[in-house]
Amino acid sequence: MKEYANYSLLNHNTFGMNVETKRFVEYDSEEELIGLLPSLGNKFLHMGGGSNLLFLGNFDGTVLHSAIRGIEVVENCGEEMLVRVGAGVVWDDFVAWAVEQGWGGIENLSLIPGEVGASAVQNIGAYGVEAKDVIVRVEAIHLKTGEKRCFMADECGYAYRQSVFKNELKGQYAITYVTYKLAVHPTLKLGYGNMKVLSEKENVTVADIRQFIIDVRNAKLPDPKVLGNAGSFFMNPVVSRDKFRKIQLAYPQMPYYEVENGVKIPAGWMIEQCGWKGKSLGRAGVHEKQALVLVNLGGASSEEIVALCNAVCKDVKDTFGIDIHPEVNFIS
Ligand code: EPU
Repeated sequence: MKEYANYSLLNHNTFGMNVETKRFVEYDSEEELIGLLPSLGNKFLHMGGGSNLLFLGNFDGTVLHSAIRGIEVVENCGEEMLVRVGAGVVWDDFVAWAVEQGWGGIENLSLIPGEVGASAVQNIGAYGVEAKDVIVRVEAIHLKTGEKRCFMADECGYAYRQSVFKNELKGQYAITYVTYKLAVHPTLKLGYGNMKVLSEKENVTVADIRQFIIDVRNAKLPDPKVLGNAGSFFMNPVVSRDKFRKIQLAYPQMPYYEVENGVKIPAGWMIEQCGWKGKSLGRAGVHEKQALVLVNLGGASSEEIVALCNAVCKDVKDTFGIDIHPEVNFIS
């Protein structure tokens, strides 16, 4: 276990906010986590890779971080392998490991920043795949009682970028392990956008998909080591079919995806239509290649990022009559 007082979080948030926490503790096991609970008080934050949050200032409490590692095959079901992974494993290290085995299910989620625990909280998703498609079981510790609970996937309330851990049970549990199912002879998912070019090739492997996704992401998304950011800053809104049809009349070229409860419209496209792509407000900018991503142009304050967020939301609302909401968590 590692513990520090007045600790800089600069290297623990990809937005590059230069803030401090009063106490930072990194634990290596469930036992260590349980032992820590009585000292937590009311103000604490359990964080993963810090790739989906925006600190609004210094954190006057304890930041907890899991260093529970390990990737273990716990069950061989023939066509499917059940793999239990520590919450502190870097997500993309797990993807790389799965691809090395030739097992499928998460290759489309290559290069997503963050850690395994967060994949189960956030239901990370990209290129036609969501974490919920492969999550079997989530193990977690209750942060007040220390009680251990196993959630089966259907108890996790999964939906687009949502789970019980972000909603009803927010702040109540720390995830310690996640078990995923990986396919030994995977059916490849090549339906999303320009991935279709891969389906014209023969003998495509999960390794080919991983490389393709890495290339696409590197071309579109800013590297947080160079330009602070937290990936997509906003969620893509879902509107009713009626509302969609009205907007489509005015914007026939608008991209969209039919979903269960309506039509999903890419917020990045709307932000671009509003003229924000590549523009900035102070030291906060809208990324020039993907308007869904807000960037720290260098030394931006959280106020500058929030001001840009508000300006973008207002313009999208005024132009399209649609409310868009941050995907990034604001921490105060
Ligand atoms: N688009 C624009 N302008 C832009 C950005 C997008 O016109 O500046 C259009 C694209 O041309 C395309 C559509 O919007 O027609 C969708 O764009 P894209 O495929 O880039 O995906 P997205 O909806 O903007 C989502 C995820 C990303 C994920 C990609 C690929 C959310 C909030 N974001 O973005 O996830 O990588 O799909 O699956 O759902 C993240 O969460 O941090 C993230 C990067």
